[in-house]
Amino acid sequence: MVRITYNLDFILSRLDNIDILVLRVIEGLMGKFEFVPIEFIESRVRFSSSSLSKALHKLLDFRLVSRRVGDYTGYGLTFKGLDTLAYHYLKSNGYVTMLGEKIGVGKEGEVFLGEAPSGEFIVVKFHRGGFSGFRRIRRFRSYSIDAQHSWLELAKLTGEREFRVLSDLYKIGCRVPKPIAWNRHAVVQEYIDGIDLYKVGSLDASIASKILDSIIEDIKIAYQKVRVVHGDLSEYNIMIVESSWDAYIIDWPQYAYRDDELAESLLRRDVEYILRFFKKKFGVRRDVESTIRIIKGEYS
Ligand SMILES: Nc1ncnc2c1ncn2[C@@H]1O[C@H](COP(=O)(O)OP(=O)(O)O)[C@@H](O)[C@H]1O
Ligand SMILES: [Mg+2]
Repeated sequence: MVRITYNLDFILSRLDNIDILVLRVIEGLMGKFEFVPIEFIESRVRFSSSSLSKALHKLLDFRLVSRRVGDYTGYGLTFKGLDTLAYHYLKSNGYVTMLGEKIGVGKEGEVFLGEAPSGEFIVVKFHRGGFSGFRRIRRFRSYSIDAQHSWLELAKLTGEREFRVLSDLYKIGCRVPKPIAWNRHAVVQEYIDGIDLYKVGSLDASIASKILDSIIEDIKIAYQKVRVVHGDLSEYNIMIVESSWDAYIIDWPQYAYRDDELAESLLRRDVEYILRFFKKKFGVRRDVESTIRIIKGEYS
């Protein structure tokens, strides 16, 4: 059983269809208003103003929406509201039955352990906005990043990016968590029963060397077959399963395509970080230039 730290299951047990509908209506109008005027919500949901007001109170109590009062009354979706919507659909579609403890908080996401209908652990990652380098994506250059709507949209885009690239990498045989589902900004993926590379204690040099080889091999497959560069590779985005010493590369939303003008420098940085870590921590030495050549297939 998972230990519960985020009360989305409790919240969902207290929400009925009307509440979910109101949340969806507010979500849908967030592009037009920072706070959606109550009249607009009313005209979309078409039920009595007392039912609507009851629903809005409940959503406010759970902090799924925020309210603006002043020249007009309006409601905006919070990240917790977006989490609730995404989680509601993931749950109704049978990908997850329960959300458990938080296993990771980064600046860009919150990661929870969850339980699948089979009883197996899974991971649910809620994205929280952009990802390093999101400005690279031309489509989104025009976004004003101050508005809540833009953050919500950016988080959804980030979720979609991570899910899609994980699918491509997984299919081709890269060791990444198996992607299971995605809704809005939430990505459900395989739970890796391992620890972050930076937490691994001292290692036999030959084991460390094999782990490094397998990481380089995965960077190479990603580069050659999926034509992507991770872009944020470090000992914090690699997980090690200690029983087998398998290394998984996680946290992909900021990836860049090989033909992106920044791909070359991102690849170099990824390689430099990893090689520096293996040298400092395990005494394994590799040359940056020849490693990059191996990745690019310039020699094997
Ligand atoms: N699939 C997974 N299985 C197990 N633990 C995970 C998984 N994905 C992430 N984690 C844990 O959560 C932490 C944060 O996840 P990550 O994807 O790196 O997000 P971010 O760094 O953007 O917050 C990781 O360092 C790792 O400890
Ligand atoms: Mg990370």
